[in-house]
Amino acid sequence: MIFNIKAAVLAAAMISLPTLANAQSGETTYKQVCASCHGAGVLNAPKLGDKAKWAPLIAEGQVTLTAHGYVGVRGMPAKGGNPNLSVEGFADALVYMVNNSGGKWTSPNPTTVAAINKEIEARKAGLNKK
Ligand code: HEC
Repeated sequence: MIFNIKAAVLAAAMISLPTLANAQSGETTYKQVCASCHGAGVLNAPKLGDKAKWAPLIAEGQVTLTAHGYVGVRGMPAKGGNPNLSVEGFADALVYMVNNSGGKWTSPNPTTVAAINKEIEARKAGLNKK
């Protein structure tokens, strides 16, 4: 009898990394992708609910902060470390964190998403280093 352990491990890994649908709520995406670091403050990630840490970030504005987070900053991995995460999915997870950390944002409308995408391109091109 031959049991293919490699295939089993691979299958398990694929189940734990779901393709994230845009329709999924920001709270669900936060829990699946962001909470592992932002829940406990791993690598000094700003914690959910830590208003003092989030205030200066929120002050950067939704377009800038969403774009910079999506591209990645120091210990913050691009797309929160999930290559399947869309800009919209990332943005909604961030709205959830912000709204639980002293801010009041809404899911970005198409105009805001377009502005975020523009800022992502600028950030990637290195025009906008923080
Ligand atoms: C592997 C751990 C990890 C995961 C997963 C992660 N983050 Fe982060 N995040 C960090 C760390 C660490 C920082 C602080 C980076 C710094 O300023 O040095 C950070 C910072 C941020 C910032 C502030 C960026 C800035 O411009 O200063 C945002 C926004 C953010 N994360 C959003 C998210 C969202 C949304 C998710 C889930 C989709 C997520 N993060 C998942 C570790 C993580």
